Amino acid sequence: MKLSDNKATLSFSNGKASVELPVYEGTIGPDVIDIRKLYGQTGMFTYDPGFLSTAACQSAITYIDGDKGELLYRGYPIEQLAEKCDYLDTCYLLLKGELPNAQQREDFHQLVLKHTMVNEQMQFFLRGFRRDAHPMAVLTGLVGGMSAFYHENTDIHNPEHRDRAAIQLIAKMPTLVAMAYKYGKGEPYMYPQNNLSYAGNFMRMMFGTPCEEYKVNPVIEKALDRIFILHADHEQNASTSTVRLCGSSGTNPFAAIAAGVACLWGPAHGGANEACLNMLEDIQKMGGVAKVGEFMEKVKDKNSGVRLMGFGHRVYKNYDPRAKLMQETCNEVLAELGLENDPLFALAKKLEQIALEDDYFVQRKLYPNVDFYSGIVQRAIGIPVNLFTGIFALARTVGWIAQLNEMIADPEYKIGRPRQLYTGSPRRDVP
Ligand SMILES: CC(C)(COP(=O)(O)OP(=O)(O)OC[C@H]1O[C@@H](n2cnc3c(N)ncnc32)[C@H](O)[C@@H]1OP(=O)(O)O)[C@@H](O)C(=O)NCCC(=O)NCCS
Repeated sequence: MKLSDNKATLSFSNGKASVELPVYEGTIGPDVIDIRKLYGQTGMFTYDPGFLSTAACQSAITYIDGDKGELLYRGYPIEQLAEKCDYLDTCYLLLKGELPNAQQREDFHQLVLKHTMVNEQMQFFLRGFRRDAHPMAVLTGLVGGMSAFYHENTDIHNPEHRDRAAIQLIAKMPTLVAMAYKYGKGEPYMYPQNNLSYAGNFMRMMFGTPCEEYKVNPVIEKALDRIFILHADHEQNASTSTVRLCGSSGTNPFAAIAAGVACLWGPAHGGANEACLNMLEDIQKMGGVAKVGEFMEKVKDKNSGVRLMGFGHRVYKNYDPRAKLMQETCNEVLAELGLENDPLFALAKKLEQIALEDDYFVQRKLYPNVDFYSGIVQRAIGIPVNLFTGIFALARTVGWIAQLNEMIADPEYKIGRPRQLYTGSPRRDVP
């Protein structure tokens, strides 16, 4: 953090002495006013529910320029990473700060692929769930359950242990997501096969059976790998902040990641791709493209409670760059599978076209986000709708653990403890 020459002065209309606050500059993006001593100096807190103007940490991992529609991982634009790197390169970059050279790449890929198996006991843990349980409920339990296997030898204050936990999480998440899926279907679990790529291995664990050989389709493998890259990190969103806050108590890293999974589940966050696809299917049932106008009227009517899912974002006030890449992948996957005339894709395109031209959306700067197309791609690949957020969790695990490890290694790290404005009853006595 670089101290700026600029300073902020906070003055009060009630005659209280004004205070001067230091300002820090980042590499790019808005400066921050340091209010850490504000309470000590004034006896007052700041009020910012939803963190609309509050930076809760410093971070060197991911940068988003919401107005420009730009997303950088460690300084590299997401478009270039999606074109030139694979997901495990991206994981290396997020965790270590630099892209791997050829040897580092080979070693890292091997390291991750050697940790893909989970303790056999996990199967029996899974059996406690109903077969029709939502995969995110199962996944929250499974990831939390991992802390029971890796607790005694995980010292969060030891950098080597933190690195090890990161590899275990990245390697085992696909296995856990696939196990959650197979359990729901009542099919046998497929053990990982480490001569396949990260995405290819996941596809086999999801769609393969012990009865026949599974052949990985390279177009789908690439599409899945891209989904993983696009979801790998997104700076201080709700689930990442949850992981940081949970981990700030020094808890087991698997437990902190389980908190992230739980947060991601919600429809305003990772659950949006599921909600988006459900929305498209509902419109399709109502009559499809012909009913788009009618549906949009409902979206614009504040009393209807209907939102255009997959549209709008707290940070992006421009086209989400991931949505463009996802649309490209969507075209490739549908062409490969002969689904170019998929009615839901046509519907999504129509909705997007109307929304991008409609004053309601233009004025509020509402653009498609990554979830708008990722659901269509995943559905085409054969992933059930209720597993979409699980795929997101798999991909985001690297971001969560990179951010958690960055926080613990930060000398300024403190347990997270927000303040409040109390509006309840003043002290009173029980009659
Ligand atoms: C993502 C989201 C929660 C961001 O919310 P936010 O930054 O708090 O923005 P707000 O909810 O304050 O929305 C600002 C305005 O746009 C409207 N708006 C936002 N998203 C909208 C959507 N998807 N459909 C219709 N109207 C929307 C709000 O009603 C509000 O209108 P108003 O100013 O007239 O009251 C919100 O855009 C949303 O619910 N989108 C749909 C879910 C989704 O796709 N989430 C995935 C995020 S990756």
